[in-house]
Amino acid sequence: MKLTSGHFESNSQPILSVLQQELKQSADVLEVASGYGQHADFFCQQLPGVSWQPSELNVELLPSIVAYAQDSLNQNLKMPIILDACGDWEVDPVDAIISINLLHVSPKQACSGLLRNAGKLLNPEGLIFFYGPFIRPDVETAASNLMFNQRLKSMNPDWGIPELTQVTEEAADYGIELKSIYELPANNVIVVLKK
Ligand SMILES: C[S@@+](CC[C@H](N)C(=O)[O-])C[C@H]1O[C@@H](n2cnc3c(N)ncnc32)[C@H](O)[C@@H]1O
Repeated sequence: MKLTSGHFESNSQPILSVLQQELKQSADVLEVASGYGQHADFFCQQLPGVSWQPSELNVELLPSIVAYAQDSLNQNLKMPIILDACGDWEVDPVDAIISINLLHVSPKQACSGLLRNAGKLLNPEGLIFFYGPFIRPDVETAASNLMFNQRLKSMNPDWGIPELTQVTEEAADYGIELKSIYELPANNVIVVLKK
């Protein structure tokens, strides 16, 4: 059964606009933490030239992603794979890796793992897209994000809004650098990194 998320309505179009600017038309994309698969399906409809590999750690979400992939309008949404951002991935090289709302609800090892694997499997000039809230050195953190951060940490002390500086410093260890930052609604951003 295709599951739907409330956040999809507000963030799917702004994220698509960034992908349309940044992704080459025939890009091979790996999505980490695809959730229900709703974003993957929408992006595959809107970006018919891309080939999209969804993935999830939570196997209970796989049937929903499978349902979207089976009905994929342009047949460019692949069947999901099980993938833990923290682990070592057995995945073919890709042009881009995207994660939407993952980093603040996972331990730091998830971000580290994603960057480490990206260093190995991203094609030259490949891109990483992180969508979600970030704490940035040059930007005042919105009060709503400070409260959200406290709530996240009370739910799980290993969770929390990531600090962009830590992410970019670690990315540099794998030959990956900050390319651009897009301001999106509700104090979220897309951070684009480039190998
Ligand atoms: C807030 S949801 C976002 C889902 C989807 N990207 C969206 O925006 O609707 C966070 C997702 O991260 C996944 N997740 C958590 N830890 C993970 C990990 N270590 N590796 C891969 N996925 C993980 C969860 O299973 C969940 O689907």
